[in-house]
Amino acid sequence: MTKLRFRPGELSDREALRVLYKRERSALLPPPSNKDLETALVDGRFIVGETEDGEIVACATMIPFSPAASVTYVGELTGAFVDERFRSGRPVNLQTVMLALRLLHYVILEGEPIAPATNTFITIVKKSNAASLANVEKAGFVECGPQPGWMEYDKLSWHGDYDEGEWRYFRTTSDTVQLLAKKFIDSGLLGGRCDTTTKSGNVEIELVGFHELELGVGDIKRIASGEHRVDLSDLPDELIYPAEH
Ligand SMILES: CC(C)(COP(=O)(O)OP(=O)(O)OC[C@H]1O[C@@H](n2cnc3c(N)ncnc32)[C@H](O)[C@@H]1OP(=O)(O)O)[C@@H](O)C(=O)NCCC(=O)NCCS
Repeated sequence: MTKLRFRPGELSDREALRVLYKRERSALLPPPSNKDLETALVDGRFIVGETEDGEIVACATMIPFSPAASVTYVGELTGAFVDERFRSGRPVNLQTVMLALRLLHYVILEGEPIAPATNTFITIVKKSNAASLANVEKAGFVECGPQPGWMEYDKLSWHGDYDEGEWRYFRTTSDTVQLLAKKFIDSGLLGGRCDTTTKSGNVEIELVGFHELELGVGDIKRIASGEHRVDLSDLPDELIYPAEH
């Protein structure tokens, strides 16, 4: 049985993560910028999964997609990587574990937005990435509709031109969060550990240092049962700033 420990990443992980993202870079997984990587580490929004020897074999993060001052928050779930040896987990795979950790952490920590503030969580997946597409669709993400003008403009700044439709944009709904909360409970992760079988055999997952989740057990149960529906929006038509309302 291999033990994997999942914990929030720390700034001291930055070099190991840069090495990992450089090694694993591909059209499916563009490495995060230093700004996104280090800001997420400082803000506790990186998740790393490591072996008992301290080798990072899984990671994922959530970065702000909207400008920091905007009250219309759009967060992007990104940077997901699982080492070949630990892919295809059953009954739960590691990308799904990290999706649940990132989303539940945000929802518990930040609470509900008060209008005109809104929360939206997106993920952007290359059309050819079958594994990731299967995971986000199974987790109940829905494809975004036509993109608002500010987002089209942003894409011009990344690509220098309109992209060729190579990427698919998904967002979470209240149902996604409910589904992930249920999986979190059913797998045993609410109690801080779970067993799963990956390509390299049985793996025991242990969660360490997710204090907000430990304090939010009651909230996670209410989300899973449907008693509490998390208020999530589609992509905002415009980004709104405090001075504008
Ligand atoms: C994406 C990734 C994190 C998923 O790893 P994982 O959590 O172990 O997920 P799995 O390997 O169990 O794959 C998930 C699903 O996709 C399916 N799948 C995997 N590879 C596939 C392929 N090449 N074609 C079709 N389906 C595939 C699996 O069968 C599984 O579906 P199932 O549960 O119904 O059997 C991992 O493949 C990875 O690190 N890839 C490289 C980096 C990357 O693409 N990151 C994501 C960027 S959005």
